[in-house]
Amino acid sequence: MTDPLRSWPRLAGTCVLLDGFHALKHAVRFGAEVPVAVTADRQAALALADELAPDVRERLDALLTEVAEETYRALVPRPHPTAVAALAVRPSRRDNLRALERVPRRAPVVVLDQPRNLGNAGAVVRLAAGFGATGVVTTGTLDPWHPTVVRGGAGLHFATVVERLTVEELPRGPLFALDPEGEDIRGVKLPDDAVLAFGSERSGLSAQLRSRTDHLLALPMRPQVSSYNLATSVAMTLYHWSATGGAPAS
Ligand SMILES: C[S@@+](CC[C@H](N)C(=O)[O-])C[C@H]1O[C@@H](n2cnc3c(N)ncnc32)[C@H](O)[C@@H]1O
Repeated sequence: MTDPLRSWPRLAGTCVLLDGFHALKHAVRFGAEVPVAVTADRQAALALADELAPDVRERLDALLTEVAEETYRALVPRPHPTAVAALAVRPSRRDNLRALERVPRRAPVVVLDQPRNLGNAGAVVRLAAGFGATGVVTTGTLDPWHPTVVRGGAGLHFATVVERLTVEELPRGPLFALDPEGEDIRGVKLPDDAVLAFGSERSGLSAQLRSRTDHLLALPMRPQVSSYNLATSVAMTLYHWSATGGAPAS
C-alpha cells in the first residue's frame, strides 16, 4: 500500500480535498476516485460508517489509513470533528462538458451567473445533487471547485456535474432566468431540459445573461422584500421543478 504521507503532498496540488467523514462518504458513494484517505481515529470513522454508510463501509475500510493526530492536523487547513480527510481526483473538464451537452436531458442545469459567495455555491451543489440536477455551471471568476465550495457541497460535487463556463458556452436548452421582476413561477411548468439561471448576490443577473434569456421567472415574494438569498432561490426553483412533474433521480 502507498504511504499516504508521501503521496499527500504530491496529490494535494491537483486533487480536491474531502474534508471530514461525510464528504468522503458522499464522494465514494458517487464514484469519485480517491487515491488517499487518512483519519486520526480509524475505529471512530468505521463506527460512523457502520451507522451512516454501510453501503460504502467496505470501501472506506480499505481506503482509510490511521495517522497520528498531529499528522492529520498538519494536512488540513481546519481540522474536522470527524478527523477524516481525503484527496479525490477532480473530474475532467472534457467529461463534464460532454455530460452537460448530453441529450435528451432528464433534469435541469443550474447556472449561477457570477456568484460571489463560496458558501452559497457549495449549498447549490448540494441542492443540485439532492434533486438529481444535471449539473451546476458558474460564470465569472469564482472557482466552483474552490476548497470552501467543496466543503459546503459536502462531497456532492461528485454526484452532479460542476463546471465553470462563459455565458456563450452555456449548455443548450430553454433558458429560464430567475428575477423578482419576472413572471410568477407558479404558473409555469419547468421542462426537464431547462437551463435555470440565477444572478449574483450583489447585482443580480448580468446583462449578458439577460440577453440570452427565454423566460424571466419570479419566486413569490411579499412586497417590500427585495430578494431571497441565492441558494434558497435555487432550492425553491428546483423544488418547483420536482413538484410539477420533474423527479429527482432515484
Ligand atoms: C440575492 S439575489 C440578488 C439581489 C440583487 N441585489 C439584485 O439586484 O437582483 C440573487 C439571485 O437570487 C434570485 N432571486 C432572489 N429572489 C428572487 C425572487 N423573488 N424571484 C426570482 N429570483 C430571485 C435571482 O436570480 C437573483 O439574481
